[in-house]
Amino acid sequence: MKRLVSGIKPTGQLTLGNYIGALRQFVKLQDELEDTEFFIFIADLHAITTPQDRQELKKNIRSVAALYIACGLNPEKVNLFVQSEVDEHAVLGYIMESTAYVGEMERMTQYKDKKGKQTEGIRTSLLTYPALMAADILLYDANIVPIGDDQKQHLELTRNLAERFNNLYGDTFVVPEGFFPKTGARIKSLTDPTKKMDKSNENHKSYILLLDDLQTVRNKIKSAVTDSDNTIKFSQSTKPGISNLLQIYASLTDYSIKEIEKKYEHTSYSIFKTDLAEVVADALRPIQQRYFEIINSPELDEILDRGRERAKLIASRKMQKVFKKIGLGRVYK
Ligand code: TYM
Repeated sequence: MKRLVSGIKPTGQLTLGNYIGALRQFVKLQDELEDTEFFIFIADLHAITTPQDRQELKKNIRSVAALYIACGLNPEKVNLFVQSEVDEHAVLGYIMESTAYVGEMERMTQYKDKKGKQTEGIRTSLLTYPALMAADILLYDANIVPIGDDQKQHLELTRNLAERFNNLYGDTFVVPEGFFPKTGARIKSLTDPTKKMDKSNENHKSYILLLDDLQTVRNKIKSAVTDSDNTIKFSQSTKPGISNLLQIYASLTDYSIKEIEKKYEHTSYSIFKTDLAEVVADALRPIQQRYFEIINSPELDEILDRGRERAKLIASRKMQKVFKKIGLGRVYK
């Protein structure tokens, strides 16, 4: 049986980028992949690499859990759990820090970007975060890790750390493969299509939240930045705005980008955007309905409890092996 692992950080609300790049892929793979066990979690330990309000964090953890289910993850097929409830993540995270080099961490572009925006009080865990992400993946011997483009470098590091550990201590970890969506691995900001859509952006019009009310969603799509030549053609370098919207359209429907270009050949940006606004609203409507049904339900806790128990079983067995390989402690023969 193969294993699939992925997670989402509960900082703020989730965006359409998270949905297209990650959540939607999880749901597709759940229906496509046979003989694969899924471990999907809420990466709350990763959230505290930057300051978080305690009550907000608590709310966001539950909200991400509910969104996983609302987007279509089937708890019968998927082990869904909260990362911090399985202690082994932090323990293996430390062991990965003791496998990785400082230089490798300092080279991570996401760290450099985030550090660039903040001058004081940068937490050590912001630097060492990819070691924890490697632990999240290696703990379950994941074969496949579905993620958006921005996590590619972290996955590469994970592969290197798995190989390094295996060389140092003998075969222990499976070296995982990344899985990236064909379209939509990097959904861009609606106000600056050279940057990724990111919930930490100060401009609310730059992103669509999965829980935005649908009229707000339509307005944001209609005010998205495009160029002035009014032809609906995909070109990442010369027409990044319209190309981003085409990718969103293609990701949420069965149309290819070519087919959408053809469909809107003799129309205008305004007609295209009006239709896209409905495509996005139609995708979000059922998610929002299901979300509000389950956010306060005991069912959600039952799902997370079950997920935690299964994750703990696999994780604790793995840690026994890891301790034994390294020579830590006394109890592991
Ligand atoms: P996070 O929480 O920033 O994002 C969650 C997932 O959403 C994808 N994503 C996007 N995809 C396309 N376009 C976008 N604009 C966009 N924005 C975000 C991300 O690539 C990611 O797949 N470090 C991870 C969480 C994590 C994890 C893991 C993932 C922790 N441990 C182990 C996989 C395996 C993160 O911060 O993702």
